[in-house]
Amino acid sequence: MLEQVEALMREYVESIGDSKSLELYDKVPKGKRLRAKLILKIAGESIEAIELASVVELIHAASLLHDDVIDEADTRRGVVSINHKFGNMTAIMLGDILYSKGFAKLTDLPNCVAKSVSSAVTKLSVGELLDVELAENFNINQEVYFDMIYKKTASLIESCAYSAAYLAKKDTTKYALYGRNLGLAFQIIDDVLDITSSSEILGKPSLNDFREGKTTLPYLYMYEKLNEDDKNILLSYFKKDLNKNEAQWIREKITDTEAVEDSIKYAKKLGLEALDSIKDENLPELEKIITDMIVREF
Ligand code: IPE
Ligand code: IPE
Ligand code: MG
Ligand code: MG
Ligand code: MG
Repeated sequence: MLEQVEALMREYVESIGDSKSLELYDKVPKGKRLRAKLILKIAGESIEAIELASVVELIHAASLLHDDVIDEADTRRGVVSINHKFGNMTAIMLGDILYSKGFAKLTDLPNCVAKSVSSAVTKLSVGELLDVELAENFNINQEVYFDMIYKKTASLIESCAYSAAYLAKKDTTKYALYGRNLGLAFQIIDDVLDITSSSEILGKPSLNDFREGKTTLPYLYMYEKLNEDDKNILLSYFKKDLNKNEAQWIREKITDTEAVEDSIKYAKKLGLEALDSIKDENLPELEKIITDMIVREF
């Protein structure tokens, strides 16, 4: 099934009739395809499910091409990122090509699926904007953080679950809630991995978030527990190119305050809430999706 998604994604890009676009697309590595897997698990084996999964993965790839320009990331999916290799302009334009092709193919799917996915992409873009805006100052507001990660990451995963449920004539409200909580947990784990994992394992730069001014959940939890002096030290490191000692200090404080453990705990709680909303649906495989998304190394 996943092979059919890969083939259809490429077919969509091929149908543009532009060899340069296809050549560049072939240079984009594949990723975990979690959104496609989620859709196929919920919607089952149908042509429409494969089409939806292909559209969503093209759109997701486009969002990452743009995200790497925004975050000035030099690696993605274990290799040199498109922006780093071919420049920002190419990454932006390839992103536009994949976005627009994805939207065009979305119009072949039921209207409410098209509406859901396209409005999720609007939220994703607003979320990216918010993410950048929040990094201008040291954000300590957890509510604002959760609103931002809902928009930039959970909204598309929520829409995947909703749309797949719609295609399979299942309860869309329950699945949307499942997707929302799964998406929030997923971004929290992404934020944790930025701290705990290495660039090699992640396939993208690690410890990039704080350097960019992004106070993700582990930083928010740590900040909450620090005394005034330490709070001021942390504030003074904001957006600074940290030397070894400073980076070490942050790691120590994260350990002392159990900020990573608490973040993982919260992601797990969201995972359980996600499962609770579909407990009557009799789909044990969706439990595995939650575990895979939460207990992961990259
Ligand atoms: C990365 O998404 C961006 C986030 C929303 C955290 P994934 O971790 O699903 O990226 P790929 O598709 O597997 O590379
Ligand atoms: C998620 O944010 C990106 C999108 C939703 C497009 P990040 O900036 O944290 O994603 P990574 O860590 O680069 O994959
Ligand atoms: Mg990024
Ligand atoms: Mg980003
Ligand atoms: Mg990240």
